[in-house]
Amino acid sequence: MMYTTSTLTLFILLATRAQAHIGAYHKAMYCRNGFSNVEVPAGRFVADPQTGLDWDEFWFRGKCKDFPPPDGEFLELPAGGYATLELAGNKAATSINMGVRNLTEWGDGEEHPELEHRVALNDSLSNCVGEPNLHALDEANASGSALAIAYKSDIHTVEWSDLVVFSVAPNTPWRRVAKFEVPKDMPACPPEGCICAWGWSPDWCARDNLYMNGFRCKVTNARADAPRVAPAQVAKWCEVPSEDGACVAGPKGIIIHSQQDAINNVPTADITSLQKTQRDGRFDVGHFRSPGAFLPPSSFALSSPVFGVTSGVVVLTSGFGGVGYNEKMGFMPGAQNDIFVTTNPNPPTVVVPNGNGAQRPMGQCRANFNLKKRSLEPAPRVRRSRFWGSLFG
Ligand SMILES: *[C@@H]1O[C@H](CO)[C@@H](O)[C@H](O)[C@H]1NC(C)=O
Ligand SMILES: *[C@@H]1O[C@H](CO)[C@@H](O)[C@H](O)[C@H]1NC(C)=O
Ligand SMILES: *[C@@H]1O[C@H](CO)[C@@H](O)[C@H](O)[C@H]1NC(C)=O
Repeated sequence: MMYTTSTLTLFILLATRAQAHIGAYHKAMYCRNGFSNVEVPAGRFVADPQTGLDWDEFWFRGKCKDFPPPDGEFLELPAGGYATLELAGNKAATSINMGVRNLTEWGDGEEHPELEHRVALNDSLSNCVGEPNLHALDEANASGSALAIAYKSDIHTVEWSDLVVFSVAPNTPWRRVAKFEVPKDMPACPPEGCICAWGWSPDWCARDNLYMNGFRCKVTNARADAPRVAPAQVAKWCEVPSEDGACVAGPKGIIIHSQQDAINNVPTADITSLQKTQRDGRFDVGHFRSPGAFLPPSSFALSSPVFGVTSGVVVLTSGFGGVGYNEKMGFMPGAQNDIFVTTNPNPPTVVVPNGNGAQRPMGQCRANFNLKKRSLEPAPRVRRSRFWGSLFG
């Protein structure tokens, strides 16, 4: 398919106008052109929320697993350094597009001076940042996102316990470019590389949505004697350890909620229960652990992007945040230095796959995960123009 400059510009304009959420872009991503191997200049591809999916659809975004990056492309993870991803609503707003549009600091390709020093005055939906659709009131309210790694080269063989969160970028997604600190002890990957995933669970300004997308990656500067990464354990809520129990220390895996009950590792009951609310909050306490999960569809529809004209200093805290990649789930900001066989305080129990790729310790009852039937309505259908429909194949 050929594009003239003007159709290309129109195409990109249409692309970025559509309300997009946020995905992680890099040239070594899976689904870089959607379900296609033809290079296109723009596409949401990995930026739509994932809700109510089964394992095959959720894990690395289903069919995206069959659309790998070109040979030789890797997301580089320098041991002791930083890996860089672009968090954007559309490939057109990233540096991996076909180079016809200026990049901005923001994930929608527009200038947003009003976001630079934004401090939301309250948690009303009218204060949600809608463009880019960051699912946050301001930078301090951005819940944090994570990078995870599996020491396997074939994405189709990666199971839940293989994929270990090694880095958390607190208060992301916010700006387009996000840096993820890489533990200095990360071992090298097999010659064909490792498989990585970006994960995000917004805490506010959202309904029950979750994000993951995949990359081919490799660790650079690895020490020859670097320890192995131990299998992932299920993260759990530990806002007040004396009441909630201690945080899970050591390697933890991808958070899964709001999908089919069988694959959730955070039960729907835990994020929608009045008995299980957050104990701290910037504006008030007592919000659901994933408050966005509870916004009724009508209020969601009413939330149009309004940018408060604010000034002042955003005080970044990493102590806030619901069920997501933050301290309330036991994820410290930055490099996760406790993921190795040498540092994991909990020697891995023998695990059995549950048939969905998720895992549970041997002998542990399935009920510990989730038996409760999903009671929420599905998230609002994401509008996708016919244009996008055709790109998605
Ligand atoms: C892109 O940026 C350059 C340099 O800042 C500027 O001259 C040009 O007008 C910009 N183009 C667009 C389409 O905004
Ligand atoms: C919340 O803040 C917005 C301004 O961003 C303001 O218009 C609105 O009245 C505030 N709501 C409450 C309940 O204070
Ligand atoms: C975002 O703001 C809401 C409302 O105050 C709060 O409950 C939540 O903990 C905040 N999330 C983060 C990550 O700061």
